[in-house]
Amino acid sequence: MNDKIPLLIDTDPGVDDALALLLAFDDTNHDVVGLTIAAGNVGLRHTVANALKLCEVAGREVPVYAGSPSPLLHAAPDAAYVHGNDGFGDIDYTPAARSAEAEHAALAILRLSHVHAGKLVLVALGPLTNIALALKLDPTLPARVARFVAMSGAVTGHGNITPSAEFNAYFDPEAAKIVFDAFPQFDLSDWEATVAHGLPHDAVLGWMQSGGEVGRFYEAISRKTREWSADRRGDDWHCADALAMAWVLEPDAAIEVETRPLDIVLEHGPARGATVVDWQRQLGRPDNARILMRYDAARFHARIRRALTP
Ligand code: RIB
Ligand code: CA
Repeated sequence: MNDKIPLLIDTDPGVDDALALLLAFDDTNHDVVGLTIAAGNVGLRHTVANALKLCEVAGREVPVYAGSPSPLLHAAPDAAYVHGNDGFGDIDYTPAARSAEAEHAALAILRLSHVHAGKLVLVALGPLTNIALALKLDPTLPARVARFVAMSGAVTGHGNITPSAEFNAYFDPEAAKIVFDAFPQFDLSDWEATVAHGLPHDAVLGWMQSGGEVGRFYEAISRKTREWSADRRGDDWHCADALAMAWVLEPDAAIEVETRPLDIVLEHGPARGATVVDWQRQLGRPDNARILMRYDAARFHARIRRALTP
């Protein structure tokens, strides 16, 4: 009997997604039962190929399911300027031998929610398009999910893709609205928490360089985005998906969490994709978001070091 916690990860790899996946693969208490792939950082063709390649480098046969190639309603810019045109630092790696499954990501999410009903931990590391599609097909999905954790948003409006919005929320705000309204409560690791828990560039590089094939591959695919980050954001590297995954895997390392009502702006304009938190509970809406405010940095760093130097 496998008493590990089943983990289903929706992701748009992406360099920080890749580190989050390595954390999940390294954890002995969780079983990654599938990767559902979104478009976001780069196009779906690349994010699927990147997920397959990372599994191959990590020696994992996790099923990979391709999802929607575009947001639900409105096109949005990608983040190739951060991750490279192929999303993995443009190192021209040899494609993985394995292919994605034939099943669509949205259908895989629903099927796996039944297979692991009541135990499944669903993690979203990219735009929420696939999860929104799954909810439109079957609104009962949340009842079968034990915990839903999303890397999304900027809870006091300090965005990274626009002044007020974070990339995952901004790429498909209609999908985020569907998802945030569907789950009675969910865990949110936002961009501002990411910035508050930066990784020292020199430490991370040291971990990669002492990490064998996995470390060397990760050093190569992350070089472009780390250099971009060092040029623009200073001494720490902001690895959003890794922080979200650390919280998934080690919830008791969260030092401070605030639960509040959260909504998202859909109107086109300077606030589109902004995640609005009712900090004073003025509107009387339910507290749907458990917001990560502080996480144990030492435990976060130790987990990354271990995943990069298996
Ligand atoms: O804003 C950071 C998020 O957008 C991360 O998930 C990163 O991979 C990108 O998808
Ligand atoms: Ca991501």
